[in-house]
Amino acid sequence: MALRLSGYRLAAAVGFAVAGVVATTACVAAQALSPEDLATLRQEYRRPPPRPVENAALVGLGRALFFEPRLSASGTTACASCHFPALGWGVTEPKSRNDSGKLTLRKSQPLIGLGHAGDAPVGWDGRSPTLEAQAKASIETGSMSMRETDAPVKVEVIVARIRSDPAYAAQFAAALPGSAVDIDAIVTAIAAFERTLEPGPAPFDAWVEGDEAAIPAAAKRGFALFAGQANCFACHGGWRFTDDKFHDVGTTTTDRDAGASTRTR
Ligand code: HEC
Ligand code: HEC
Repeated sequence: MALRLSGYRLAAAVGFAVAGVVATTACVAAQALSPEDLATLRQEYRRPPPRPVENAALVGLGRALFFEPRLSASGTTACASCHFPALGWGVTEPKSRNDSGKLTLRKSQPLIGLGHAGDAPVGWDGRSPTLEAQAKASIETGSMSMRETDAPVKVEVIVARIRSDPAYAAQFAAALPGSAVDIDAIVTAIAAFERTLEPGPAPFDAWVEGDEAAIPAAAKRGFALFAGQANCFACHGGWRFTDDKFHDVGTTTTDRDAGASTRTR
């Protein structure tokens, strides 16, 4: 899927509260764009520079922890078990096995470009306010915990495994001098790493920068539709092809996502 491979993120919500917005935006843009408008819109897809890395030691530690199966209760599941680097840090299958051996309720999301998502809520339904809170929930009660089995492992046990590893002790001392090795320090590192997952440049980016030969004519016509009559731009605007907001896309599903909390009647 083009958008996911380029590493862009969309948050879905099925909520009555936002249904009106969809109807309104659909009417506004049912017209072809002038060449001038199209040139302006093309500029709106220009990439910003990568986010600066403030603490390289912290990011390196976070990367190690992201691939660390000892962070899960069973000692066999890492964050990377459901977030593969080669897939924009996502997966292809609709559901993954969690640490309890059960299927996840929803599809794992790609993590690429998340550092540019600002303070957008995290998860399909936005239930975590920050990447730190999301990672903490994954380890304590979510995908990484054996919560759904008869023998769940306490988060203190998981933290003790990391704390007692001399290699990690040295990495924490370098990354967060003076602070305790606890669950908060662990998720601080993981989130710092996640914010560095920059999407690689696509041919589309080269075209936006002015290289006319970077994409074929059909793709340019597609962009004109995307930004004009098809009105994809209304929700997929900007270089990450997302506004990081919730939209009712009218899909038939029993999973109401954020609709469960945003419903107004
Ligand atoms: C068993 C599979 C699995 C494991 C292990 C896992 N995740 Fe996920 N991840 C998911 C699924 C499924 C979702 C979507 C959950 C939802 O919103 O309902 C998700 C969503 C996320 C999101 C939200 C992305 C967004 O765009 O809002 C982040 C961030 C994330 N995971 C990070 C992590 C981190 C960090 C770890 C390790 C501490 C981890 N995941 C471990 C399956 C997994
Ligand atoms: C009203 C807002 C809205 C409009 C307009 C819209 N989309 Fe989306 N789109 C979404 C949301 C929300 C999702 C995430 C839904 C999901 O995956 O369950 C999504 C998902 C997608 C995906 C899947 C991305 C992925 O990573 O899996 C593609 C591709 C896509 N849209 C293309 C389009 C195209 C092409 C158009 C125009 C014809 C369009 N969209 C118009 C809101 C919108």
